[in-house]
Amino acid sequence: MTARLPIFDRSSAPSLPFPRGWYVAADSDEIARGDVKPIKALGRDLVVFRTEDGEAHVINAYCPHLGAHLGHGGRVVGDRIRCPFHAWEFEGKTGKCLKAAHGDAVPPRAEIKRWHVDEMDGLILVWFHEDGAEPDWRVKPQPDFDLEWTPWRRRVWELKARIQDVAENDADISHTPAMHDLTDILPKLEMDTEGQICDWKMSIEANRSAFGLPGSPRLWDFLRIPATIPSRIEVRRSGFPLGLIRQWSTLPGGLQLLSQTFITTMPIDNEHVRVVARHRVKPTPIRALTKIVLDKYCGIFNTTFEEDITVWENKVYRMRPLASKSDWSILKLRKWARQFYGEGVYEDALRREDEMRKAGVLP
Ligand code: FES
Ligand SMILES: [Fe+2]
Repeated sequence: MTARLPIFDRSSAPSLPFPRGWYVAADSDEIARGDVKPIKALGRDLVVFRTEDGEAHVINAYCPHLGAHLGHGGRVVGDRIRCPFHAWEFEGKTGKCLKAAHGDAVPPRAEIKRWHVDEMDGLILVWFHEDGAEPDWRVKPQPDFDLEWTPWRRRVWELKARIQDVAENDADISHTPAMHDLTDILPKLEMDTEGQICDWKMSIEANRSAFGLPGSPRLWDFLRIPATIPSRIEVRRSGFPLGLIRQWSTLPGGLQLLSQTFITTMPIDNEHVRVVARHRVKPTPIRALTKIVLDKYCGIFNTTFEEDITVWENKVYRMRPLASKSDWSILKLRKWARQFYGEGVYEDALRREDEMRKAGVLP
């Protein structure tokens, strides 16, 4: 009798739930006073709105009365949001229903779940904890936000990927020369973790070609433009969802480029994420040059990001990867990230993967 081959596909791989932390519900400038926006996030339908007093709020989408979606036709009235269906009004600060239809008494317990919101650094952050527990930390202000910058330039992707895969990309230095035209050399990396912050510093030798210098390499050699451009990159990850990337590069001609990308990841559901990258550069003395530099920087970043998408959209998450020496940083990042899961959750997923390996389902 032949042994039956085990079945294994992406959906049967053990996966981790959404990590606890602060997620971006919307950018501040997307939600003006009186605006109401439906979002799909963290496996739920939610509504982001800003009351007339300027405060941003995030609530569950469905009205406790007869289930209308408050993000579709709901309106801000003072410090409340009004349901489009029968005009019940819910207070932004508490989620409590303060007015029912036709002067009816408000039924007891008529309220809508309100999520903890913290608005800072141009982002409306929403707190996620799988048991609904209160936030036990706050995001610290990001470094260098007080310098002079061009306005943010935003790019949004929605992908079939998990937040763990996208967030771990920072730490996965060995994929960089393999996947990206940016460099052929393994970047040097240092990593420090403290509480909910993971800081890493990397130096890379970026390929001249990645900067889009077209034509014959001989021409650039003749002009004494070096084959690689040194760059220093520092990334601050505040929990899994938020990553601030700061980069210092010395361009040909000695021009110093200072750039920032604020990249954030929000799970839409268990299989999909929305990634938003916001880019900006330090202005140069010449406006037209600043635009060229910003265009170029955004182009390189977005292309590099997109080169990874096919892998994320098709991979499984390995709880216990068959790691080699240059993967130390992924393992260190994962050790830091365990704090964002409930007790036993991470261990459970490890155990499930071990069982699958023993059963010959996983290599
Ligand atoms: S469904 Fe919202 S007020 Fe009736
Ligand atoms: Fe990458």
